Amino acid sequence: MKVCRTKAAIRAEVSAWRAAGADVVLVPTMGFLHEGHLSLMRLARARAGVGGKVVTSIFVNPTQFGPGEDLDSYPRDEARDLALLQQEGVDAVFAPDVGQVYDPQAQTIVETTELSRVLIGKLRPGHFRGVATVVTKLFNIIRPDAAVFGEKDFQQLAVIRTMVRDLDMEIEIIGGAIAREADGLAMSSRNVRLSPADRAAAPVLARALDQAAEMAPTGVTASRLRSHVRAMLEAEPRASVQSVDIRDAVTLDTIAGPLTRPAVILLAVKFGQVFLIDNRVLYPT
Ligand code: PAJ
Repeated sequence: MKVCRTKAAIRAEVSAWRAAGADVVLVPTMGFLHEGHLSLMRLARARAGVGGKVVTSIFVNPTQFGPGEDLDSYPRDEARDLALLQQEGVDAVFAPDVGQVYDPQAQTIVETTELSRVLIGKLRPGHFRGVATVVTKLFNIIRPDAAVFGEKDFQQLAVIRTMVRDLDMEIEIIGGAIAREADGLAMSSRNVRLSPADRAAAPVLARALDQAAEMAPTGVTASRLRSHVRAMLEAEPRASVQSVDIRDAVTLDTIAGPLTRPAVILLAVKFGQVFLIDNRVLYPT
């Protein structure tokens, strides 16, 4: 497995593969890898096929963190990440430092104007602009045929799909299912920062989503379902509920009445300083 620190190095590697006719599949990450990330590597491997190549990027992207967010305390362990990626059979890792990625004179951004302002975008202004910009840069540096993103970050996946459509990027976007701990908590690099008491309380998100999935086919309205789930989360004293939303699963448009099409319920909850998100697609029948 090749570890590339510079744009030139990863470009040289990928160009050689492409010249040999290989499909290249990218899995962008911010590192501190867990089983959820590794499940995406396996999807990437399946998409790449025989002779195809899988590239992972590890880059804690400063432009997607707001002032006062956890950029400095974001967990990092590159040696462990590289060992895990090696085991997964990843072909190359792009692990640049900030100076390698951002020109100090940079003035160009990529933004999905509507999608980036709602839901998580409202709680974290500028976040999705940072994500869309860095993912565009990674796409331009690596020029993959396909890229894999987790459904855990449902809105992020919607932002990427919208950006790819709007900017005519010729890259197939593949979504991977949410990997969970045995007690249902969605895997996240941030889970290690939960106190033991918060860690014990956090599976309330998954239980609330299970309830929502059970209630969805009963003809319940989205607003009632939302209130029910919010009350369930608020009953957990350690949880600070940031948002509960039910949206069209494809467009992320708001829904208030009965569910007639697949919807998605999106949760954002803070435990102490740790911001957790989770979601589940809901089917009306
Ligand atoms: P990061 O949080 O490291 O996540 C990398 C990828 O792993 C994302 O596509 C995310 O949705 C996916 N992922 C995280 N937890 C998962 C889980 N439990 N199950 C399945 N997939 C999971 O998301 C980012 O980094 C960044 O915003 C990035 C896209 C790399 C841009 O900087």
